[in-house]
Amino acid sequence: MKVLVIGGGGREHAVCQKLSQSPRVTQLLCAPGNAGIAQVARCVPEVKATDIDAIVALAKREAADFVCVTPDDPLALGCVDRLEAEGIPAFGPGAYAAQMESSKIFSKNLMRKYGIPTAQSESFENMDAALAYVRAQGAPIVVKADGLALGKGVVVAKTVEEAEQAVTDMMQGGKFGKSGARVLIEECMTGREVTVLCFCDGKTIVPMRASQDHKRAFDGDMGPNTGGMGAFAPSPLYTKEIAEETERRILLPTLHAMNAEGFTFKGVLYVGLMLTADGPKVVEYNARFGDPETQAVLPLLESDLMEIMIAVREQRLSELCVRWKDGAAACIVLASGGYPGKYESGKVISGLEEAERLGATVYHAGTRREGERYVTAGGRVLGVTATGDTLADAVSGAYAAARAIHFDGVHMRSDIGSRDL
Ligand code: AMP
Ligand code: GLY
Repeated sequence: MKVLVIGGGGREHAVCQKLSQSPRVTQLLCAPGNAGIAQVARCVPEVKATDIDAIVALAKREAADFVCVTPDDPLALGCVDRLEAEGIPAFGPGAYAAQMESSKIFSKNLMRKYGIPTAQSESFENMDAALAYVRAQGAPIVVKADGLALGKGVVVAKTVEEAEQAVTDMMQGGKFGKSGARVLIEECMTGREVTVLCFCDGKTIVPMRASQDHKRAFDGDMGPNTGGMGAFAPSPLYTKEIAEETERRILLPTLHAMNAEGFTFKGVLYVGLMLTADGPKVVEYNARFGDPETQAVLPLLESDLMEIMIAVREQRLSELCVRWKDGAAACIVLASGGYPGKYESGKVISGLEEAERLGATVYHAGTRREGERYVTAGGRVLGVTATGDTLADAVSGAYAAARAIHFDGVHMRSDIGSRDL
């Protein structure tokens, strides 16, 4: 099969690498891809992941047999619907189902209607009403822009003033454009966070190994939120009991709710959980693989990812037994100095071969090739993943390899996984 993957980050590198190992995949393309993905797939840098017309045209021109749509934007823009309408099989939810991620109010209403545990909340289109609600509720309180906002549309406000500022920024400041026209104001939950990525074909939901992300920029969960500074799997917090409770109270009810609402979710459903004193609750759904969780989860997948994707699309997931390797994986993100704020690009990267010689896999997120060299070309530059018998082995292996890599201003957290070791 000739397979086209849409996207160009570390997550897509992990997806492409896994697909390249499938005996079913004879040719692999990635648009736009990146310098690391180019090691396993033919990249098409001129086709951007948000340009649906160009993606459809590329899939037709290349006579792709299957397209995997990985990032949130093209999913929300209906990329899968468009491809399927052209007769091109595609992996991922259609635009309607992708609202599980692209509208926080849509997914909140679904959770409320079907009794799925999540934070109490109210949605607002009117700023004065939102402000009044914030003042009445008091702090801490969480303010969320309704739409996609590159992971930056959530403010966990410690004071009423901070929450008021967030509401004003989103609804009046136009900081998030249309995404902020409606806001959701939520009760602030406390607890540890776990990510459960699930394969879902609309009939069956199959959780992958649970993982944990590290969203803050600095050690000890300090500093600004980022796209994710590291991840590991499986999560030791996600015990058998919690997994059982999550399936019974969240995963199966979510599948039921989507069907009862008359839509079919095919793809990866990302269930972000908070383990509260009252049990696991949903923080958010995403309609796709997580980044960097995927770089820690897919290395543990023993089954053929291509086979799973085909089965999901054909709603035959129940016929498969998705198998996992024993052991653990950890991914350390190497970022440009200053990220998630301003940073410089074009720094020469050294030590990539040494890191791989140490047994790690280096996933590229923001890199560019200049002749024989790789240079930095983004905020998150690389994700270095190692596997091991235990979480401690995986973490120490990943750090040994990550520390072999250097570029000017390189920044990584030094405590990925440490709280759970
Ligand atoms: P989200 O984009 O919805 O994942 O939110 C980003 C982060 O904000 C989450 O990973 C949580 O750490 C935090 N967060 C979101 N909603 C809540 C909530 N209701 N209570 C506490 N923290 C939250
Ligand atoms: N790691 C968080 C996300 O993918 O949304």
